[in-house]
Amino acid sequence: MHIKIAPSILASDFAHFGETVRLLEERGADLIHCDVMDGNFVPPITFGAQAVAAMRPHTRLPLDCHLMVLHPETHVEDFARAGADLITVHAEACDLKELFALIGKYGIKKGAVINPETEAEALFDVAEEADLLLVMSVHPGWGGQKFIPSSLKKIEALREHCIKIGRPDLDIEVDGGINEETAKEVIAAGANVIVAGSAVFRSSDMAGTISRLRG
Ligand code: DX5
Ligand code: ZN
Repeated sequence: MHIKIAPSILASDFAHFGETVRLLEERGADLIHCDVMDGNFVPPITFGAQAVAAMRPHTRLPLDCHLMVLHPETHVEDFARAGADLITVHAEACDLKELFALIGKYGIKKGAVINPETEAEALFDVAEEADLLLVMSVHPGWGGQKFIPSSLKKIEALREHCIKIGRPDLDIEVDGGINEETAKEVIAAGANVIVAGSAVFRSSDMAGTISRLRG
């Protein structure tokens, strides 16, 4: 399976989003992972649709918007207009099917995500219509945390389910604590979209790190 790398700009300098997304495209990233936090679903506040719109003219890469927000339904339109290519919403924050119907109206890709406490089965019901399933391998809210090993079993269960329903190539993304070692493990478990914040932005060789994360 083709492995895609989605650097998270959460770990980047917030004064330079335009430059950063241009650089990531040049250095071989496949998607730009945008961590949107509202101070409610998770304690910190990061940025919203206006920042995503500001990045849009600076890259052709898909903008992968991970909404760690309560009431994501009230924000879908803004992100769609901002130029998001994929909107991923939390099973813990909404009715996934309702949100998929709404996101679908804008012709954007639909993703569903689970926290470390949530079982993989919470995503089974939407696997047929999803464009991406995301497993959080750290507690959402902060970059730089340690990978939670029990995420591997969930990735395996999701890949197995995708095969069972005839969607063996469905994108399974993993987010949190990914470095060159844990990337190998999640890829072996069945993930093919790898989010990496600190690993990419703390590296002095961004292109090399992105390429090594592919395994
Ligand atoms: C955490 C975010 C992640 C975060 C990952 O809430 O969803 O995308 O940026 O950061 P690292 O790769 O540093 O664990
Ligand atoms: Zn994220």
